[in-house]
Amino acid sequence: MGTDLMAIDYQERIPNNVDLGNNRTLQRALEHWQPRFLDWWREMGPSDFLDAEVYLRTAISVDQKGWAQFGHVRTPEYRWGIFLAEPEPDRRIGFGDDYGKPVWQQVPGEYRSTLRRLIVTQGDTEPASVEQQRMLGHTCPSLYDLRNLFQVNVEEGRHLWAMVYLLHAYFGRDGREEAEELLARHSGDSDKPRILGTFNEPIEDWLSFYMFTYFTDRDGKYQLKSLAESAFDPLSRTCRFMLTEEAHHMSVGMLGIQRVIQRTLEVMKELKTDDPDAVRKAGAIDLPTVQRYMNFWFSSALDLFGADISSNAATYFATGLKGRPDEAQYEDHIARDATLTLETPNGPEEVALRNAMNEVTRQAYIKDCEVGLRRWNRMIERAGVAFEVKLPSPRFRRAIGSWAGAFVAPDGTRLDEATWRARLPEWIPSEADRTFVKSLQKQVIEPGKMAAWIAPPERGIDGKPVDFEYVRFN
Ligand SMILES: [Fe+2]
Ligand SMILES: [Fe+2]
Repeated sequence: MGTDLMAIDYQERIPNNVDLGNNRTLQRALEHWQPRFLDWWREMGPSDFLDAEVYLRTAISVDQKGWAQFGHVRTPEYRWGIFLAEPEPDRRIGFGDDYGKPVWQQVPGEYRSTLRRLIVTQGDTEPASVEQQRMLGHTCPSLYDLRNLFQVNVEEGRHLWAMVYLLHAYFGRDGREEAEELLARHSGDSDKPRILGTFNEPIEDWLSFYMFTYFTDRDGKYQLKSLAESAFDPLSRTCRFMLTEEAHHMSVGMLGIQRVIQRTLEVMKELKTDDPDAVRKAGAIDLPTVQRYMNFWFSSALDLFGADISSNAATYFATGLKGRPDEAQYEDHIARDATLTLETPNGPEEVALRNAMNEVTRQAYIKDCEVGLRRWNRMIERAGVAFEVKLPSPRFRRAIGSWAGAFVAPDGTRLDEATWRARLPEWIPSEADRTFVKSLQKQVIEPGKMAAWIAPPERGIDGKPVDFEYVRFN
């Protein structure tokens, strides 16, 4: 095929607002990468369903009023586009030592490797989550949920495109090599695993999927918010647009958990019982099990923010590479002399605020996590059930930071190791819990029908009814 034909085809296939058509070098680099991405999607993306037509949202612009279009598409034909939020005129660095100076349109030489590592680490999580979720289609509780799964998957694929665009456009040969590596590492692979621990755990049931989209995608939201503050303007603009899509992923989690709890409450009401075994026998997920899944996913998401005292975080802040989420809400954007007192296992420790930036971000994340819990607890209360779902203590089951390896119960109590280990099965899903939850996972694909362990959603997607044919099988 002649290069001109390729170019035309490419322009049509990849919606973008970065003027790809006028950047031949970048275009060639992406043309080289695109078939590898598609191979990866076919091999490591959703298992089967490649021929299914899915009612998907595709980003076609960054216009606030209508940035997406909906329609049935086969996932390998999804148009993974490259979009950056509109540039802010005269944008200035919002924090750190260079506060107030103009933002960078190119990567400053001295920050090249650090920025590349930040982008690669973010980029690695995107395909990782697709790999983790690849088997879930076989056990979807409804067509509506199946569609949501694939929507999340294609958008994580687009987020990978977003990071690969930055690597190709701003990091030359090293960037191209990193882009290849993003497709070579695989979730759970013993030789070439994904970079961050949580992203190597398979997600084998839909309760875990909802927990992942609620808790782990929300970590993603906070990472993107921090990177959206970056002095490297293309990164900032990329992340600002990714946040638009991320919101849907978290609502899949929020509504998914809500529907699980709703169904459980209905069963409890029908049977007039709060006995977990009776609830399970009736085919719903008892509330203590929901709580254990929450404890597991919340505690593992907290580690993704990194150590509470971190010199890397201080450097990122000082140099303008990565800020605090919603930096504008703070008064002191330089934070040169400010301190923060952190509770550590050895007592309170006063640390330089810049070194505590991971903790500041983690606190904002925890507050955001509470929103769903308030909503679910209102629902439980309205049903007249005496149960409250709670976030476990942020010191519970940590593997990173000053509380790593401390024996703290979900209620924050410190215990001795033997007691803690003996009680751990009460707090996180046991093998038996997982086996039970898995036993409920049977594929339901008749339009409008739901698996017995989950309530239907209140409304469908894009104004369509709940019983719309969100996925067509061929
Ligand atoms: Fe993402
Ligand atoms: Fe996401």
